Amino acid sequence: MHVSRLSPALGAEVINSDIRSLSNDEFARLRQTWNEAGGLLVIRNQQLEADDQVAFARRFGELFGEADQFQESVLKNLLPGQPALYRVSNKVDSSGEPLGRARAGTYWHSDVSFRRQPAQASLLYGIEVPDHGGDTQFASLSAAYNGLSEAMQTLLQPLNAVHDFRVAAVSSGTYSTADLNSGDFDGANRWTHPVVVRHPETTKPTLYVNPGFTSHLEGFERTESDALLGYLYQHCQRPEFVYRHRWQPRDLLIWDNRCTMHCAISDYTADRYLHRATVIADTPVSYMA
Ligand code: SIN
Repeated sequence: MHVSRLSPALGAEVINSDIRSLSNDEFARLRQTWNEAGGLLVIRNQQLEADDQVAFARRFGELFGEADQFQESVLKNLLPGQPALYRVSNKVDSSGEPLGRARAGTYWHSDVSFRRQPAQASLLYGIEVPDHGGDTQFASLSAAYNGLSEAMQTLLQPLNAVHDFRVAAVSSGTYSTADLNSGDFDGANRWTHPVVVRHPETTKPTLYVNPGFTSHLEGFERTESDALLGYLYQHCQRPEFVYRHRWQPRDLLIWDNRCTMHCAISDYTADRYLHRATVIADTPVSYMA
């Protein structure tokens, strides 16, 4: 396995590795590399059947679709026969039925942050990707935290933020009424998390807010909350905290939702078809705890 860094804030490319056959020691090294690279690995040229991807994802922890369900609107986009794989695609079958969620995640977010136990790793496998366009951007929320003044870090540390799937459902512009189900809003998809959390593996502080799902800061007037969150989102998207991934077929990306957010870019018309496995995290813990 050969590893090279992709950007100073986050990301490492891995070549000459077949994730289907990693020993426990090799897996532990890969996981360490993932943490050292700020929670983003780009593993090139994998040959994965659906079951291979799920078996590998299970090495990171329990999966949505198995140990817990995704929000209801995702269910129709799961791979038939393999409920741990979420299909992200603009393709349709011969009768015009969508083969996945088109333009999924085209807003900055950390996966499933609206749950008490949100997402840890997401593993996205590019089966068919456009020649150009359809990139995915990633921002390091730990590098962004480190880039704040001490005064701002101190202000943020005791704060909590409400995360709610409704924010993306209503404001991202990517959900039609037909995409959504009443179960999406039954209360399970709303949770309060600390704004600065301790990463459970690196023990480092990281921001844990994102424009896709964070509704507001607890205890603030809405205008105050919008202003502070707006500043943080702008800060996190500074170029020095962001890596933009240009997909190659058979790339497997593994990102850590506990210290990154991402945004898929909707600038293509060519076919795009990917499978995502999503690992369940422990409930985030405040850096101050
Ligand atoms: C997602 O948010 O999981 C989708 C990312 C992508 O399609 O690049």
